[in-house]
Amino acid sequence: MVQKIRIIGGKQLKGEVSISGAKNAVLKLMAAALLVKGESKIYNVPELTDVIIMLNVIEQLGAKTYYDKKEKSITIDATNLTSVTASYELVSRMRASFVVLGALVGRCREAVVALPGGCAIGERKVDFHIRGLEALGTNIKIENGYVHAKAKKLIGTDIYLDIPSVGATENIMLASVLAEGATRIQNAAQEPEIIDLANFLNAMGADIIGAGTSEIVINGVKQENLRPIEYTTIPDRIEAGTYMAAFIATKGKGIIKNIFPNHLTFYTSKLTKMGADIKLIDPTSIEVSCKKRLEAINIITQPYPGFPTDLQSMAMSLATVADGVSIITESLYENRFMQVPELRKMGADIHQERNHALVKGVKNLTGANLRASDLRAGASLVVAALMAEGESIIDNIFHIDRGYELLENKFKMLGADIIRYSEDDNSIISQGKGNLSESQL
Ligand code: EPU
Repeated sequence: MVQKIRIIGGKQLKGEVSISGAKNAVLKLMAAALLVKGESKIYNVPELTDVIIMLNVIEQLGAKTYYDKKEKSITIDATNLTSVTASYELVSRMRASFVVLGALVGRCREAVVALPGGCAIGERKVDFHIRGLEALGTNIKIENGYVHAKAKKLIGTDIYLDIPSVGATENIMLASVLAEGATRIQNAAQEPEIIDLANFLNAMGADIIGAGTSEIVINGVKQENLRPIEYTTIPDRIEAGTYMAAFIATKGKGIIKNIFPNHLTFYTSKLTKMGADIKLIDPTSIEVSCKKRLEAINIITQPYPGFPTDLQSMAMSLATVADGVSIITESLYENRFMQVPELRKMGADIHQERNHALVKGVKNLTGANLRASDLRAGASLVVAALMAEGESIIDNIFHIDRGYELLENKFKMLGADIIRYSEDDNSIISQGKGNLSESQL
């Protein structure tokens, strides 16, 4: 059933929205649960298609899982793993599942994991993941599109990453928890999701220090030192950043609850510079509003704590109506301006040259038929459509469903005129059921 979102823009958003658990954290915690024998439980799990794919991946490996939608928890019993193969069919549907490679090498000393390949936003190589595991003593062969990894022993060592890759840092951390001696990752990724993974692993009995800095040391422990745990995932900073942009875009005013504001410091400072008013209400809530026309801004995406690439497209949507010319530079991915042609359909004035975009603010955008090319580009079109004059129809919304729990329900609660409908018979899809149909669960 092909679903689309229809938005009639121009409504000021008002009210409170609560942020879900972080997709990019929970997927890695699920892989980490494979390291331990016994039943681990993860709370604050968002209801997303990516979570279901990850459940399928770890079930394929023999883990038993139970997803309690009401409680928003997942239970994973990895006592008996019966396979070390993650199939192309699943890994190609979601790149993040490649992180089971490190967990399998750590736990089983063997893994056969499909290479994820590139995707809409860029080539997305995995060479640092592979070099990191090789440095630990893993023998790796690439055959028929699969990484075949085998290790007699894993011995801790110093690993330097050319780029602070999130996925490579995670795969190396997961593999080295059960290695002999100390592994030191230099130029490690510092994202909050890395800290969450380290906290999860340490609660399980691992010995990891320095997560959140550029040097992480993992002191290997023995399998019998690990125990299953219960753990609550951090809030999704990118979802929060999307709602911040939406309040600002519609000149609305609202409270965003269940967030860690210090995960969004750089983004918040840029939005404030543009003219938004962002106030801390309490340690996990902020109030966002905007009364005046935004001002143009210059942005360069960087690894954390720099400006997040995942929020670049939201900032671009805001820049399309700001006063003056904004320069936006995407420095992480080769192809992360997929929203540009869609925003142009809405009247945006954007000139793109390689990884730079010159955005000349116009007075307002107008609704159009739009296509979500990937998750974050898709979300930025929702933000643009919410502030545009008239009706927008967004197609290919399965991309958006990968990362935003109950998107149209949350926006509806804030006063947006938004519906999800089936293209086949134009029927409105029932609200309040989450992103997943019963057959997917
Ligand atoms: N890179 C390499 N070789 C490697 C690994 C990475 O060249 O071995 C390059 C990539 O091609 C990319 C850059 O390094 O140009 C950064 O990639 P990184 O490995 O840091 O990203 P990732 O782990 O694949 C995660 C998030 C992304 C987010 C990036 C950057 C998950 C599941 N995904 O990807 O999130 O954009 O970090 O912060 O955690 C999203 O949620 O929509 C999303 C794409």
